[in-house]
Amino acid sequence: MKRVLLTAGVVILLGCASQQVQLSPEKQEKIKEIGEASSMKLLKTLKGELMAAMQKDGPVGAVEVCSNKAMALTKQIEIETSNQIKRTTFKYRNPNNAPDKYEAEALTYFEEALKKEGKLPPYYIQTVKENGKITYRYYKPLKVEGICLTCHGDKNLMDKQLVEKIDKLYPQDKAYGYKEGDFRGVVRVSIDGEKLR
Ligand code: HEC
Repeated sequence: MKRVLLTAGVVILLGCASQQVQLSPEKQEKIKEIGEASSMKLLKTLKGELMAAMQKDGPVGAVEVCSNKAMALTKQIEIETSNQIKRTTFKYRNPNNAPDKYEAEALTYFEEALKKEGKLPPYYIQTVKENGKITYRYYKPLKVEGICLTCHGDKNLMDKQLVEKIDKLYPQDKAYGYKEGDFRGVVRVSIDGEKLR
């Protein structure tokens, strides 16, 4: 229950009308179920494609999967699940993945919880009300694993050709320098409020 913090404060800050809505346990359960299924579907698909490309073409070739294919695969899973999905983080590689205000609040929640409790909470739920429309947002945190360091680790220890390629594609990159176990960001699943009425 403690995890379900509502975004009324943020919404008021943005000048939109909002009330503190207390979600029923049933609704929370439903959001969790849909959010978990959609985010896992994306993560499994991306990881599968990434591993296959790393084996076939090596990390330099696999960059293509992340840069070209990740968006298309996300779109496809959005259609399959009929929920909007995004990966976002403060330290992003692609500026298109930068967080909006609500996402920034969720990222801060995970960062602070990790600092305080030494581990990441499993999820975070937000209620966002904009233009009279309610959307529930489910956030799943991502951790850096060993394999991720191939492309998100210490720049000086990484393959030179790979760094060259990443720097060319992402001149404003912020996604180097991670360590194993770091909080990498979130998968955000937006669920239309109408679905849960
Ligand atoms: C082969 C290189 C490569 C590997 C390995 C890799 N990534 Fe990435 N990652 C990228 C590239 C390139 C992007 C930019 C994608 C885009 O343009 O949307 C990216 C983007 C991301 C993003 C979206 C936010 C952002 O920074 O733009 C997340 C989250 C992410 N990676 C997490 C991971 C995690 C977790 C792992 C390990 C399981 C991992 N990555 C492994 C290359 C890689």
